[in-house]
Amino acid sequence: MKKALIFGITGQDGSYLAEMLLEKGYEVTGVTRRVSVNTTERISHILHKINIVEGDITDGFNVMRIIEDFKPDEVYSLAAQSHVGTSFSQPNLTWDVTAGGVLNILEAIRHSDRCFDMRFYQASTSELFGKNYDETENGEKFQNEKTQFMPQSPYAVAKMAAHNMVRIYREGYGMHASSGILFNHESERRGEDFVTRKITKWIGGFIGFKEALRREYNLKIFKTEFSEDKIVFKCGVTNQVLSSYPKLRLGNLDASRDWGHAKDYVRAMWMMLQRTDPDDYVIATGEAHTIREFLDAAFCKIDILDWSHCVVIDPEFYRPAEVEYLRGDRTKATDILGWEPEISFKELAFRMVDHDVKTQRLQRSNLQKISTNSSKTRQVHMSDVQEKGKESLAQCPPYNEVEFG
Ligand code: NAP
Ligand code: GDD
Repeated sequence: MKKALIFGITGQDGSYLAEMLLEKGYEVTGVTRRVSVNTTERISHILHKINIVEGDITDGFNVMRIIEDFKPDEVYSLAAQSHVGTSFSQPNLTWDVTAGGVLNILEAIRHSDRCFDMRFYQASTSELFGKNYDETENGEKFQNEKTQFMPQSPYAVAKMAAHNMVRIYREGYGMHASSGILFNHESERRGEDFVTRKITKWIGGFIGFKEALRREYNLKIFKTEFSEDKIVFKCGVTNQVLSSYPKLRLGNLDASRDWGHAKDYVRAMWMMLQRTDPDDYVIATGEAHTIREFLDAAFCKIDILDWSHCVVIDPEFYRPAEVEYLRGDRTKATDILGWEPEISFKELAFRMVDHDVKTQRLQRSNLQKISTNSSKTRQVHMSDVQEKGKESLAQCPPYNEVEFG
């Protein structure tokens, strides 16, 4: 039975990778940090099938001991401070974890008696390209393994250091060390402060809120009005204010990303380690979409075609330096690994919305638990509505058709 060691098993990718490796018959061990709250939510369904060891990649001796004790065949280095925005406010931490942590793992492998029995995967990133891209003859922008790196954030600089270390350890010490230059990949398990999940979480919350409101007042129709930062719900019959919901606050909507589904991307990680020769590969769908296009797809799933009323642009979410355009050319990965993504951009957005709507429905079955409204705004009672508007209510549209304006 092959043994895999995953640093970052509690993260989005770690959880999908662990599931996939279990299906392939691996013995899986995951390294988790000591924290005051439970962080194993994403792997709770497989906890009984895997080993968990406590560790932090910034502690080199700790990493060395874990590798010596567990004797893995494959080591996956996924642990990182992975939020680009946060790396501007916590550059030192980002450097220590995202660059230094990887060096600790590489050193632990290099000094092990089993150095050449282990294969190593590093989670590199399209952020390495930063500002830079190449162009096809038709003027289409893309990035591949030959595109020069021009990082735009402390996160990307730390990842670039780690990426170069991996290359040096591969070429200098002959280690089986590969880096996957993965473009953005999302999922139902994506961290909630990345833009795609932030959007779908908001949609889930919004739908759950409306449903709770509807149940509370036994209403089929709302009228909505928009203040600067809130969506105000009024009774469609009496026009009285029922409640309000905060708008979705976002930063730059014009950046483009090449978004795939994490489940497809962890397959690529494993494929790289099955090759006789280690190497670096770009993993991407080859399609770029702006944040606006993701908003279009996600809101379309709940039948809202004009989301502009629901979103506020907030300078807080702008970054000091931005990566404007990422679109990967995965030719090498397809030719050599045989890797292709299976989940499309639209399916990704729909899956994430579906998941968050379902989750919020469960959580928000009671208006009292979630309402941002105060008792002051809850002015209408079921009896008023029924008295005043039985006929109008009979003509109400289905739930999802919120009337704007
Ligand atoms: P994620 O959800 O943020 O997961 C990060 C993981 O790293 C978590 O398990 C976290 O543990 C762990 N971690 C953080 N600091 C640690 C430390 N000091 N010691 C040990 N573990 C630590 O990230 P992800 O989206 O799964 O991404 C996985 C990797 O791929 C990351 O390295 C990321 O930078 C890289 N990457 C991601 C993408 C993408 O689009 N998702 C694209 C390219 C590259 P806690 O649960 O305790 O916080
Ligand atoms: N997070 C966030 N929050 N991003 C926003 C927001 C917001 O409210 N509003 C607009 N954006 C824009 C960001 O400025 C960026 O241009 C884009 O949305 C994507 O941001 P993130 O979802 O945070 O992802 P990222 O591209 O910066 O980084 C992710 O992908 C990298 C691979 O390219 C992370 O997963 C990194 O770890 C990964 O390396």
